[in-house]
Amino acid sequence: MSTTLVTGIGELATGDPALGDGSALGLLSDAAVVVDGDHVAWVGPARQAPDADHRRDLGGRAVVPGFVDSHSHLVFAGDRAAEFAARMSGTPYDGGGIATSVAATRAATDEELRGLLAARVAEMRAQGTTTVEVKSGYGLTVEDEARALRLAREVTAETTFLGAHVVPAEYADRREDYVALVTGPMLQACAPHARWVDVFCEPHSTHAFTADEAREVLLAGRAAGLELRVHGNQLGHGPGVQLAVELGAASVDHCTYLSDADVDALAGSAGTTVATLLPGVEFSTRSPWPDARRLLEAGVDVALATDCNPGTCYSSSVPFMLALAVREMGLTPAEALHAATAGSARALRRNDIGRLTVGSRADLTVLHAPSYLHLVYRPGVPLARALDLG
Ligand code: NIG
Ligand code: FE
Repeated sequence: MSTTLVTGIGELATGDPALGDGSALGLLSDAAVVVDGDHVAWVGPARQAPDADHRRDLGGRAVVPGFVDSHSHLVFAGDRAAEFAARMSGTPYDGGGIATSVAATRAATDEELRGLLAARVAEMRAQGTTTVEVKSGYGLTVEDEARALRLAREVTAETTFLGAHVVPAEYADRREDYVALVTGPMLQACAPHARWVDVFCEPHSTHAFTADEAREVLLAGRAAGLELRVHGNQLGHGPGVQLAVELGAASVDHCTYLSDADVDALAGSAGTTVATLLPGVEFSTRSPWPDARRLLEAGVDVALATDCNPGTCYSSSVPFMLALAVREMGLTPAEALHAATAGSARALRRNDIGRLTVGSRADLTVLHAPSYLHLVYRPGVPLARALDLG
């Protein structure tokens, strides 16, 4: 395996407070990184850098850990732009549009879905994302869910079984039969291709699942060897957060509507359950912004992700999420970057990503800018890109 010295890094966010300026981002200026194969072998001031087989000079640009997008739904076909336009004119979101994506996804060939998925992952990488979690959830039959996860496994190890996304129309008047399918044959077919199980727990939507149904799905997933994540508290105050904490889920995602008891429960989990915020959803559904400051001040671990999906947020851009989180949700730029790197790595229970320290994965994202601050200072400008050393 050959080594590469990446030098000319004007500002490096290592994610390790022990390095650099002592902040959570661990900022170093005039830095260098030695990459050995797929991992980081050395980090420090450029003037102390050891030799390597190859050299790459970044000309003073900033480098940050590759973004960890810990929540996405990339396996889908079809288009829901008209639904988005209607929402901008006042139609509320209730999850009903998911059926449109389910019909288009079921009708697509494997090759079509594989091509759509690859294009979306490439779009993310071109914006600085180096790890992505991908959920099923637009198949909702045994075969279509297993197919989505097989395809997702081709692009990431972070695959999530979301057969409990909504109750499909054909089961609308026999929900308990659908829960039995999800917890039985569908889970058996999907578990070999998945790391995680997730559920859309949302009593405010007739399409989604109640607390009791969600608990059944999550416990069956755990019994099949999967780890837990939850979609909760998106459309109103609901039981998703409490359920996620009760079961020790790695993350509860959305957290748009939180009571004091929800915030206390998350804080009481002492980092077991991360609150993943998805500000692109509030943007694209005209919903109220979650109060990220309140969570941080309570000591809750916070992650940021895109939720990239055809309904509530068709954006693959982590920098856009950083800008929204800073402008609308009370985070500083440093806190937002931390949430989309170390925070979202934690939401995936990974310690080899979301930072650039010796032994971590060599997922470097380069900014066409002198500082990470530009990610938020220059919203909408394509500054971030995953570095290809190959
Ligand atoms: O995370 N809330 C549930 N699921 C997705 C949206 C799915 C869709 O509308 O297609 C979400 O927002
Ligand atoms: Fe989602």
